[in-house]
Amino acid sequence: ALSAKHVREKQRLLVVANRLPVSATRKGESSWALELSAGGLVSALLGVRQFETRWIGWPGVNVQDDKGQKSLSSALEEKGFIPVFLDEETVDQYYNGYCNNVLWPLFHYIGLQQEDRLAATRSLQSQFSAYKRANRLFAEVVLSQYQDGDVVWCHDYHLMFLPKFLKEANSRMKLGWFLHTPFPSSEIYRTLPLRSELLKAVLTADLIGFHTYDYARHFVSACTRILGLEGTPEGVEDQGKLTRVAAALETDMVRSHIQKLRGRFAGRKVMLGVDRLDMIKGIPQKLLAFEKFLEESPEWQDKVLLVQIAVPTRTDVHEYQRLTSQVHEIVGRINGRFGTLGTVPIHHLDRSLEFHELCALYAITDVLLVTSLRDGMNLVSYEYVACQNTKKGVLILSEFAGAAQSLGAGAILINPWNISEVAASIEDALTMKEVERKERHRHNFMHVTTHTAQVWADTFVSELNDTIVEAELRTLR
Ligand code: G6P
Repeated sequence: ALSAKHVREKQRLLVVANRLPVSATRKGESSWALELSAGGLVSALLGVRQFETRWIGWPGVNVQDDKGQKSLSSALEEKGFIPVFLDEETVDQYYNGYCNNVLWPLFHYIGLQQEDRLAATRSLQSQFSAYKRANRLFAEVVLSQYQDGDVVWCHDYHLMFLPKFLKEANSRMKLGWFLHTPFPSSEIYRTLPLRSELLKAVLTADLIGFHTYDYARHFVSACTRILGLEGTPEGVEDQGKLTRVAAALETDMVRSHIQKLRGRFAGRKVMLGVDRLDMIKGIPQKLLAFEKFLEESPEWQDKVLLVQIAVPTRTDVHEYQRLTSQVHEIVGRINGRFGTLGTVPIHHLDRSLEFHELCALYAITDVLLVTSLRDGMNLVSYEYVACQNTKKGVLILSEFAGAAQSLGAGAILINPWNISEVAASIEDALTMKEVERKERHRHNFMHVTTHTAQVWADTFVSELNDTIVEAELRTLR
């Protein structure tokens, strides 16, 4: 009884993100199967122990009937998750449209094809209204949950209006916002119509955080140039994040899987890519570099294998559909060119792996290839380093991933657009002497184990909690 009381008295942290870390499948009119997903944010929040955490977000399914909404809400609430229900039209305009077809490419410096860009421009107003409408719905749910003394932490580019709507309703709320993507150079950002409204809305938060110092600097210069404000970057500098991979390596399930994979890939070096199937990840560029390497180093053709896990995402967005076909075409060509009756050089999977399978795969991999064209941080590179204590494999890492600023010392940094450079780095990585691999791994492992996701979340939330909200300051004056 004592501990239950203790839990109730903990200060509460409301975490608001577009997507809840759980996927729900309907099993009947009012019954649901819930599957937890172990994203970086979930494991990060395990570190924020002094708070009782509640999640607020979209459950990722379209449920319009009252009965369905009620039953899903109660199934989720049992696990500390509060759903925000969005109808199909809003998901299309807000999530597929404004979030993933406008903000996402812009923040990652991805140029849309001219026809898509024009189409996006034409539907901009309606998508922007849907974006605001969705942010309002999130705000209503947060307000219905909020109790005095709670700390509210909003996440990512989906919810840039949320701080504003919440502060308008309650100026005393302690409110943070963290961006999990890059914030682009102000020269790129300023091409966004309605650019000021978004900046002003974010600025109502008490603490704003970015993965790297560069992103914070870009944000501040956008505020200076577009809004005429002055500022210094507040928040988080170069914070690494680590999921719970390292500990999992010790389990029997992972160990036996490692054995299996070792057997299956015996006699060949294993290279690995693990990405969401997203244009920011540079998957075609990675494949072209691998092809070039095989072309130039025929002695490696039957001695190396690239396993590419490409997790499908945002499959309703045209750009993502086009990318999928493009990737399949390139994989087919390379396997056709360099395969034999017994083997193919690329094992490509369009799906995610179970957690223990992924850990095992990281552990037996000789070279991890991260070729992001832009990437907020790139957790995969952290996860890989965490799993390499035995093998001391090599990380080839794009200089355009936020992680390059923290893992640069131990990784081979590459420009993913330079296919020849990447091909040469593959050769270097595969032939690197053990002494050098150990030394590089030591650097990265030290960083990854000290800059964990838990430390990152804990630092942000503590700093936010220590912030004196401006409305409080006014009453103090
Ligand atoms: C990125 C974003 C996250 C997003 C994730 C998966 O990491 O920063 O906010 O949740 O991708 O994308 P999805 O659209 O499937 O939620």
